[in-house]
Amino acid sequence: MKHNKEQNYTINRQDRSLINKHKPCLIWFTGLSGSGKSTIANLLEKELHKHNIHTYTLDGDNLRRGLNKDLLFTKEDRVENLRRTAEVAKLFIDAGLVVIAAFISPYNKIREDIKTIVGSDYYIEVFVNPPLEVCEQRDVKGLYKKARTVEIKNFTGISSPFEIHLN
Ligand code: ADX
Repeated sequence: MKHNKEQNYTINRQDRSLINKHKPCLIWFTGLSGSGKSTIANLLEKELHKHNIHTYTLDGDNLRRGLNKDLLFTKEDRVENLRRTAEVAKLFIDAGLVVIAAFISPYNKIREDIKTIVGSDYYIEVFVNPPLEVCEQRDVKGLYKKARTVEIKNFTGISSPFEIHLN
């Protein structure tokens, strides 16, 4: 049983928005490895920065070197990777930032959960969707090659699913 009662602090999201002169939100990029999520996220952050928007980018490759370094690529671990990231994004939204996130995030359910964690009013999802063949041809990190020779297991698009969001 949990016994921690929420503590309330006087300064809130709205107060921070007033100082920042903009609203906070989360812009979540989803798509295959090598689809261009990080590249587009980087360009977006540079553009927002020019307009004095306070930003921070969360990237799957980077978070997996620190906060999420205990996690692998099973479904369970990916779900936990993304849950933690969504909770961090929620804190950063509270801090007043426009948060940009680039994660494969391959499951519809977890993308729905992320939206629920941060609140649908604060969530913008961008599906970066080149064909798998294009990502595989580029193979920026050489991971598709390893996935094909089964050196890497559970590789998204090859041996692990990517659920396309249907609206
Ligand atoms: S997610 O599925 O949990 O959202 P995340 O975005 O954090 O994935 O990490 C993806 C990155 O990890 C890829 O861009 C790639 O560099 C690396 N990676 C290593 N192993 C795998 C794998 N089995 N499947 C997908 N990406 C992998």
